[in-house]
This record gives sequence, structure tokens and C-alpha cells, in this order.
Amino acid sequence: MIGDVDYNAATILNHLADVTAAHIRRHLQTTNHKVLAETMAENLDRVCYQTPKLEHHCPRIVRGLRHAQTVFALPVAQGHKNLTQSALAAFAHVNWSEYYAENDWTRPFLADFASGEGIGPNGVLLCDDLILGLFILGPNTLYPSHAHPAEEFYIVLSGEAKFQAGVDGPYTQRSSGDLIIHRENEAHAIWTNDKPLFAVYGWIGAISEPSWH
Ligand SMILES: [Fe+2]
Repeated sequence: MIGDVDYNAATILNHLADVTAAHIRRHLQTTNHKVLAETMAENLDRVCYQTPKLEHHCPRIVRGLRHAQTVFALPVAQGHKNLTQSALAAFAHVNWSEYYAENDWTRPFLADFASGEGIGPNGVLLCDDLILGLFILGPNTLYPSHAHPAEEFYIVLSGEAKFQAGVDGPYTQRSSGDLIIHRENEAHAIWTNDKPLFAVYGWIGAISEPSWH
């Protein structure tokens, strides 16, 4: 730490942005939203942020982080070892939160939910046009259907989950290395099996607009 600038976080999160963009480019053929995926990778290439400051590290109780120990022990697939290692290095350099306020809609999953914003308006690196972060969803948990004006990607690092796109769309099993893209205001849901899901996620576009359900 030099002054109030955390160069560790800047280096580690820049690396995460780089390897995430590379992973997206390697998986363009696996998505129906190739152009959007390319735009996401381009945004990650030119991510622009302000230097991080100490006051943005805000420890708080995040119940879903109790699944982190299991996540750390899950096997790392060889095909995307770089991305997984980069995400694990970033684990302590993101602002973890439960993201949502507790209410009737969030109560069934919030204690098993952890969102860690690394780069973004509430990240450790401040950025107003992109979010890059880490995500944990505990086992046997449904993150119910919701949507947001921002365009979103997930890359599964470990664990497995069924992802639904569209209000009545089928749930599709996704596993380590898979790229999932949600268009603006497209309803989506995630349902884990007996292992916690660990993923990288990102938002581009209208990132300041809240989720709705
Ligand atoms: Fe989402």
C-alpha cells in the first residue's frame, strides 16, 4: 500500500479483466449472442478506473461467503486454470456484499448469496461504465428470475448450476468454463445443485439501473 492507493488490487483486478476478456473470446462460438460477447470483451480491454482508496474496503457480514471454503476446495478445470487462479487471487480484492436488501423476494436465497464487485461503481477499483466481479451461490439454492437493463455475463469457474433465460425458458445445465450471456432486461434465474457455484460476472451498458423482478 502506498499512500491510499492499493496497487495490489489494481494489478490483480486488471489481470482478471484481461483473462476474462480472453476467455470470452475463446468461447464466442458457444453463445447465441456473439456480437454482445465481443462488445463485453472490448469493454474489458479498455476498462477505465480511478485508483482505489482504502475507504472502499468495507468489511460487512456476507452470509454466503461461508461457502467460500467449499469453493476453494473444488477442482480447477485445466481448460481455464488461468481464469480460476486469477479469480481466486482477486477474492480478497473485491467488495463482497449480499447486494440486495432483505425482503420477501430475497429472503429465500440471500443468506446463500455473495456478490463481490471488483471493478465498478461500488468496486475496489472505481469505474462508472462496467462492473466486473465474483459471485457465489450456495448449494441447492434458487436465485429466482429477475432482470436488469445492464447486459450481463457469467463465466462458471466451479460448481454446476442450471441457468434459465427468458421467463418461461428451459433451465440449462452449465458447468466449469461455460459463458452465459443475458441481454438487457432479459429475465434470468440460476439454480444450483449440491455444490456451490463460483463464477465471474460482468455488467456493461446501463449498469446504474437496478434489477427488477
Ligand atoms: Fe443478472
